[in-house]
Amino acid sequence: MPGKRLTPKPKPAPSQGRPIVIVGVGHMGGAIARGLIAAELGPRLILIDPAMKTADARTFRKEGASTGADARVAQGTNPEALILAVKPQMMPQTAPAFADAARHAVVISIAAGTQIESLSLWLGAPKAIVRAMPNLPASIGKGISAAYATPTTTAAQRKLADRLLKAVGDLVWLEGEELLNAVTAVSGSGPAYVFLLAEAMATAGERVGLPPDVAATLARKTIEGAGALLASSAAAPGDLRRSVTSPGGTTEAALKVLMSEGRFEQLLAEAIAAANARGFELAKTR
Ligand SMILES: NC(=O)c1ccc[n+]([C@@H]2O[C@H](COP(=O)([O-])OP(=O)(O)OC[C@H]3O[C@@H](n4cnc5c(N)ncnc54)[C@H](OP(=O)(O)O)[C@@H]3O)[C@@H](O)[C@H]2O)c1
Repeated sequence: MPGKRLTPKPKPAPSQGRPIVIVGVGHMGGAIARGLIAAELGPRLILIDPAMKTADARTFRKEGASTGADARVAQGTNPEALILAVKPQMMPQTAPAFADAARHAVVISIAAGTQIESLSLWLGAPKAIVRAMPNLPASIGKGISAAYATPTTTAAQRKLADRLLKAVGDLVWLEGEELLNAVTAVSGSGPAYVFLLAEAMATAGERVGLPPDVAATLARKTIEGAGALLASSAAAPGDLRRSVTSPGGTTEAALKVLMSEGRFEQLLAEAIAAANARGFELAKTR
């Protein structure tokens, strides 16, 4: 339209906005911090950990983040998100110092087994709490997290939590907090099952005559390659398995052993049920 100025509103740069506080910058908190820095959120980060190495603190500060040893560095900053990434056993003594920071923030706890009821008590009943369970591959940006948000979490806060948790991989949302024990049993503990598979395949390879280092390399690279294939394919895992199983061939011979009377499925079902039950037991003590 002639004469009328249609200058679009400038989009806020990703670095603008209220702070994002991370409490506990160890394996997982550090991975989230690095993911958020990669997403250009460095200048909004306040990273709190008494054990943070000087070199790490320097690297984070170079990216615009603030660092500190305790809650004082977050005082009066009115963060938009408060990410709690300390060990579950440290939570009761750590969380209360962040009650003020939690008041208008979406609180995101990744502590295994620490229930929302306890978090709410320690933090002075904040309105928005998200409990999430990431897994180890988050440390290389390839994690899968599952999260549950309390009903008082607003849509905007949930969207923010979604964005922050996706800094270290993918995310699925859950309808109930109690499902987090099942999530822990499948994806939280899952990387250990895959590492066991690599160990067992290597040992079995040695038994059929391979030198140990060759067997270990073949097992490791097979899992790595099969994982990459699974990631790059839209096909279901069962379809991929069937596509590499020729009738009367070697793969079929092995799968007949693994799948006879559902042995493999049964073993995994028992393992995951045990992890799930342990999650409920541990929750009672936290
Ligand atoms: N690692 C995983 O694969 C994984 C997966 C899912 C969920 N999680 C959850 O993620 C959380 C962190 O696990 P992690 O493996 O990252 O543990 P971590 O490496 O031990 O990191 C926790 C960090 O928090 C620090 N810390 C202790 N007290 C603190 C305080 N008062 N204020 C600020 N920081 C404090 C610790 O210092 P110190 O070493 O001096 O105590 C440590 O540097 C846990 O709750 C865990 O359940 C971890």
